[in-house]
Amino acid sequence: MDSKVENGGVNDDDKGWGWGSSRPVPSVQEIVRNDSVSVPERYIQNQENRPQHSETNPVSSEIPIINFSLLADGDEHERKRLDSACKEWGFFQITNHGVTDKVLHKMKDAVTAFFDLPLVEKKKYAMATNDLQGYGQIYVVSDEQKLDWNDMILLMTLPTNCRNMKYWPTSIPGFKEAVEEYSIEMQTLTNQIFANLSLLMGMEKESLQEYHGEMKQSMRLNYYPTCSSPDLVIGISPHSDESSITLLLQDDGISGLQIKHEGGWVVVKPIPNAIVVNIGDAMEALSNGRYKSIEHRAVTNEKAARISVATFVLPNDEVEIGPLEAVVDDDHPRLYRTVKYVDYIRHSVTMKMEGKAHTDYLKSQNV
Ligand code: OGA
Ligand code: NI
Repeated sequence: MDSKVENGGVNDDDKGWGWGSSRPVPSVQEIVRNDSVSVPERYIQNQENRPQHSETNPVSSEIPIINFSLLADGDEHERKRLDSACKEWGFFQITNHGVTDKVLHKMKDAVTAFFDLPLVEKKKYAMATNDLQGYGQIYVVSDEQKLDWNDMILLMTLPTNCRNMKYWPTSIPGFKEAVEEYSIEMQTLTNQIFANLSLLMGMEKESLQEYHGEMKQSMRLNYYPTCSSPDLVIGISPHSDESSITLLLQDDGISGLQIKHEGGWVVVKPIPNAIVVNIGDAMEALSNGRYKSIEHRAVTNEKAARISVATFVLPNDEVEIGPLEAVVDDDHPRLYRTVKYVDYIRHSVTMKMEGKAHTDYLKSQNV
């Protein structure tokens, strides 16, 4: 295989995020472009990790759908539905969220335009050896581990002074504008969701937002190439997100995301223009486990490449993550210890994505 099709090794002229690094990997898109039939050994999952090994949930259940315009109007019934969705599923889709089709389509077009660039162009935005931003892959900690059938570019989007423009493919007309507009919209949705979750946890509306300090937002733009043997590979390994919440925009009509629910995998069916929201590890700890950060994965298919945009909402690096006072009482003892968020992130990037292993670090020693 052409060993030149990899990220890493360039652009390492500044200090990066300080969160860690990941090993260079080949571009899967390029592998498929060169040979669309064979699947290299490093991508063939061990039997127990193959998608068909763990059955999809026999119950044809679907994640809850929350009508965002009702939430924004302060509708208590919808707020209670949000509470149940976060408790029982950790995942929901929002409709009527007010983000225009135009903004969503421009964002998807920007992602498509990036992955359509020739490899040499994409490599100009390659992840540096000391950073996790840019084009490449994260959570690759050894040269032996199996790899995901996924290419991605990770960008820090908020606060604006955290943007490192050397990783932004600004040569694509409209890319920067699309990401900026979409980023603002996701921040607005985040504030609404936080206001509702704050009320549900018995706090003031502004509490969660304030607790996050100067909030961060990053975006992972995902590309899942087609695969001749989708049953042998995994698009993104089972994991939970380290965020407080994640907002996911996915392709209409091509499913891939699956979430763990009652022991099986439930397919998240794309609803045109809806946004999938999930609880991340930080929120699980802040809520003392009232809301769960659920394991999820993506699978691939033979027919169509799939893109998605995961927007991660993160507390400021310096914020202490642990159960908020409002959610701890005699009936709800503290189940998580308190750690500085940056320490949590630094810890989790040293591990391969593997189910909920990351959150074990947050659990109190004595539970
Ligand atoms: C992620 C993620 C799922 C998808 O990027 O963290 O879970 O469907 N993505 O792309
Ligand atoms: Ni995820």
